[in-house]
Amino acid sequence: MDIFNKIKTAPGALGKYMAKAHGYFAFPKLEGPISNKMMFLGKEHLVWSLNNYLGLAGHPDVIKADADAAAKWGMAYPMGARMMSGQTKYHEQLEQELADFVGKEASYLLNYGYQGMVSIINTMVDRRDVIVYDSDAHACIIDGMRLHFGKRFVYPHNDMNNLDKELQRATKIVEKTGGGILVITEGVYGMAGDLGKLDEIVEMKKKYNFRILVDDAHGFGTMGENGAGTGEHFGVQDEIDLYFGTFAKSMAGIGGFVAGDKKVINFLMYNMRSQIYAKSLPMPMVMGALKRLDMLRNEPQHKEKLWTIVKALQGGLRKAGLDLGDTESPVTPVFLHGETPLAMHVTVDLRENYSIFCSIVIYPVVPKGVIMLRLIPTAMHTLEDVEYTIKAFTEIKAKVDNHEYPEEEASMAVD
Ligand SMILES: Cc1ncc(COP(=O)(O)O)c(C=O)c1O
Repeated sequence: MDIFNKIKTAPGALGKYMAKAHGYFAFPKLEGPISNKMMFLGKEHLVWSLNNYLGLAGHPDVIKADADAAAKWGMAYPMGARMMSGQTKYHEQLEQELADFVGKEASYLLNYGYQGMVSIINTMVDRRDVIVYDSDAHACIIDGMRLHFGKRFVYPHNDMNNLDKELQRATKIVEKTGGGILVITEGVYGMAGDLGKLDEIVEMKKKYNFRILVDDAHGFGTMGENGAGTGEHFGVQDEIDLYFGTFAKSMAGIGGFVAGDKKVINFLMYNMRSQIYAKSLPMPMVMGALKRLDMLRNEPQHKEKLWTIVKALQGGLRKAGLDLGDTESPVTPVFLHGETPLAMHVTVDLRENYSIFCSIVIYPVVPKGVIMLRLIPTAMHTLEDVEYTIKAFTEIKAKVDNHEYPEEEASMAVD
C-alpha cells in the first residue's frame, strides 16, 4: 500500500474531524495581545484556554526583557549545540537559578519540554531497568517510554495499591536483571487538574528501591508556597529525584529544565541526545526566562491573584452544580456527559452566544461518553470575568440537562 493513500483513508482519531472543525474547534486563531480578552473570528472573547497562569505572557516587563534581548543578540545567538559551541554564562546562570528555586543542586536546560522529557527517559534507563508509570501520563512520558528497551508497568491513575503491586513486580525483575526502577508521575495532571500523590509515592521508597521523576509542567510556578511546584505543595521536594518543568506555562515562554543531584545532571548533560544533537536555546529565551524567574521569586502578587481567580471560579462552578472532578490545581475541567456532537454544540453556544472561549476535550483524550470543557484561570482574569462565566455555565448546564442541543455534529470549519 502507498503510505500517502493510507493516510488519506485513515486520517486519525482527531484528524477525522478536520473537515468540520478546522479553524474553529481545532487550530483556532486567537488574535490581539495576550490577555483575558482576545479576538476570535473578528469578535472579542473572554479566553479561558491559555496556560498563562501567572499572566506573564502579556506583562510589559516580560515583553520588554524579551525585546531587549532580541535587540542585543538576535535570535541566532549562540550558534550550535551547548556541548560544541552554544554555551554561554547566561545559560549556566539560568540553570543555577532554576535549581536553587526548586531546591535542587543543579539543573539542565531543555529546548522543549516535550522532547526534553522523551530524551530524559531515554537517557536514564537501559534494558535492565523497569519504568513504572501512571496511566494518565502525558504523551511526552509515553513517547519517552517507547524508546525504552526494558520492561514498563502502568498503574491505573493515582491508584496507590496498584502502584505498590507494580513495584513488587518490578522489584522481582530488577533483582534478576541487576537494573533499577524509575517511577514517573505528573505533579499536576494537566488535563483534569488533580495532583499526583507525590507524598504517598515517596513514602513507598521506604519499602521499595526506586527513583522518581516528576513532570511538573503545570505545577511549576502555581503550586507550593513559593511556586516551586507540587513537591513543595506536599512538602516532599527533597524526595523527588528528578524534577521536570517547562517554560511553556507559568513561565510564558518556550523550553524547560530538569533538576536534580549534580552528578545526575552532569550525566544528562553529557548523554542526553535531544540536547547534544540540537542547537542551544537562543538568548531571548534565556534572558526572558531569567526575567520571568525573577518575577516568580520576587512578585508573589501574580500567584496570589491567580489563586483568587481559581478559588472564585472553582467555588462558583461547583456551587452551581457543575462537575469539576478532583482538581486541586488551577486547571479547571468541567465534565459533561455526552458524545462529540454535544461537545460541539456546547462549545459553539459558549463562543457564539456568550463570547466565552475555552478548550474542548473529547475522546480519545478523555473516555468515550465524557466531554471536558477545560478552563485555565490566570492572573489576568478579573472577578467580573468569573461571575460572568459561572452564569454562562449555569445556563449551559440547564440546556444540557433539558436536552436542548441538537444531536447531529456541528460543522464549523472556517478558512
Ligand atoms: C504534563 C506536560 N508535560 C510536558 C509538556 C510539554 O511541554 P512543552 O510544551 O514545553 O513542550 C506539557 C505541555 O504541553 C505538559 O502538559
